Amino acid sequence: MPGVATAADPVGLLARPYWYRTLPADADVHRLDGGVFAVTGNRTVQEALAHPDIVAEHPLKASARAFGPNVLDADGAEHRAFRALLAPILSAGRVDAYKRTLMPGLVEALVDSVLDSECDDFHATHAHKVPYGIVCTILGIDPALEDRFHTLTRPLARLLDYPTEETEQTHTNVDELLRLIEEQRTAGRGDGRSLLETIEQTRDRRGISLTDAEVRSTALLFFLAGTETSSAFITSLVYCMGRGLFGLDELHDPAVRDDFVEEALRLYPPVQTIVRFASEDLALGGVRIPRHSAVLASIAGANRDPRVFAHPDRFDLSRSRKGSIPFAVGAHACPGALLAKTEFSLLVADLVERCADIAVTRDRRRAASQSFSHPSAFAVRFTAK
Ligand code: HEM
Repeated sequence: MPGVATAADPVGLLARPYWYRTLPADADVHRLDGGVFAVTGNRTVQEALAHPDIVAEHPLKASARAFGPNVLDADGAEHRAFRALLAPILSAGRVDAYKRTLMPGLVEALVDSVLDSECDDFHATHAHKVPYGIVCTILGIDPALEDRFHTLTRPLARLLDYPTEETEQTHTNVDELLRLIEEQRTAGRGDGRSLLETIEQTRDRRGISLTDAEVRSTALLFFLAGTETSSAFITSLVYCMGRGLFGLDELHDPAVRDDFVEEALRLYPPVQTIVRFASEDLALGGVRIPRHSAVLASIAGANRDPRVFAHPDRFDLSRSRKGSIPFAVGAHACPGALLAKTEFSLLVADLVERCADIAVTRDRRRAASQSFSHPSAFAVRFTAK
């Protein structure tokens, strides 16, 4: 069969960061053991994510079982209803308002906390502060509960990985988070514009028929998607700044800063692998994929495809990034992309404004996780001006 490159143990293979590199480069679709297909090339990953018969919903998907019905695990009309609930909170106008009122204070506090210090594990101790501050406010969650939400949410990242690490603890955390979300919803915090309040209003106005449980699980999914992706990527950003790849001064220029964020997103996309399923027999990249097969689309592989990006592993601010898809494509493409990029640009601007130097002082060159990936096992020092 053309394009079928290898059979391998999917669980062992996919547990490795950058798993796409271990598959033969001359094929885009690889049949693994256990009815799993891995998709690695840029064009074919994009085709898979936009394919009408490659769907998100699967009754055995760990995230669907843990969270209940939610935006990430739905297709068709139900998925559109979930997206409609979220749209008002993530509009360009709202993001502009968050940029002026909400984000600067959070960014400033984070930079204050790292100046003239060395962080041994930036991801564990600092990277979450801005994203959790933003998403708690947007959701209308009491800021006093931020740490509690962080402690409960972080382990849930493993539920979106493939292979999934599903434990009694992750289920207990989901139950507790759903309980807290319900408690906050009934407490009616916020200014009438929070996610929880907007959801109520949008449902009434547009007649969206979702149960209370579906609304709660979508709020939880929104929380996870908005915090852990950004925490992972802020870790990557700081890592790239600290590696001395270019002078920090260059990042004062907003256009260079945007290129920097985009290039870091290409090289370190926090969502490395997207899990989908074939709802029908279909062909992709010349390979027949039987109905019900799992289809794993490698965003990391797509973003480092040498047919699209010359010297793909090289950090190059001047390259064209057409084809870079850190936020995915298709119906599930990230609705928070604008918010995320605004947050990252503000953070980088504040860091270069106030730091004379950022230096990675120890680097064991490891990467963590598939769903919320970031360089790990490095230390970084921030020297104030
Ligand atoms: C570095 C930052 C981020 C990256 C790289 C990222 C990436 C992605 C990707 C690749 C998906 C598609 C997942 C799939 O199809 O299985 C996604 C979905 C999603 N993201 Fe993001 N995201 C980021 C930040 C955010 C933020 C800040 C928010 C909200 C505040 C957000 C909300 C969502 C939601 C709700 C979904 C589900 C959409 C759907 O299933 O239709 N994300 N994100």
